[in-house]
Amino acid sequence: MKRITFVIVLAASAIIASCNTDSTTPGYTYFDDMYQSPSLETYEPSAIFANGLSAQLPVEGTVPRGYHPYEYANSTEGYESARTGLMAPEEFMGELGLQEGEDLYNIFCDHCHGEKGDGNGPLVMQEKILGVPSYAASRLPDITPGSMYHVIMHGKGIMGSHASQLTYDERWKIIRYVVKLREDQE
Ligand code: HEC
Repeated sequence: MKRITFVIVLAASAIIASCNTDSTTPGYTYFDDMYQSPSLETYEPSAIFANGLSAQLPVEGTVPRGYHPYEYANSTEGYESARTGLMAPEEFMGELGLQEGEDLYNIFCDHCHGEKGDGNGPLVMQEKILGVPSYAASRLPDITPGSMYHVIMHGKGIMGSHASQLTYDERWKIIRYVVKLREDQE
């Protein structure tokens, strides 16, 4: 019996001794690094870097994985350079991805340009927006996949930019589908 009392007293004093009055420290802990992660919490200040922040900005010029910079300016010259100089990557110009291109077109372009690309989308029919051209070569003889990419990136006239709504791959898949719509209208 005495032995048990001794063990209890010993355990109680160990528990009490491991407490401390400073609420900013955990007191004594076993396996300290399991309680106190050595890694920094998000946005915690850190003395390691000169600016005192733990979350550092990427090095200047860093390009995120899968990101494709677009360097043609939002100007008439930029449009013209893209029209003549920006080539569609071959991988997107085959049949592969055509179905996805159609699906994306129906979501992002159809309401203005129309299912067939004849410029008679529902918004045009309801006269909510006007001046949407047909893709037909007779109406737009000079457009190229490069100029289409430019128009998706920067917009044109009252058509706004669609750059933020579509990924690089999706833009080219839609363009492939627009090329098909153009052919179908010949
Ligand atoms: C809000 C309506 C609207 C939507 C949505 C829209 N467009 Fe347009 N688009 C226009 C208008 C209006 C023009 C004519 C712009 C001009 O020439 O002033 C145009 C022009 C174009 C042209 C011809 C540009 C040129 O070089 O003359 C292409 C190609 C085109 N759009 C592709 C697309 C694609 C692809 C999408 C979907 C990602 C899309 N548009 C979504 C309204 C729209």
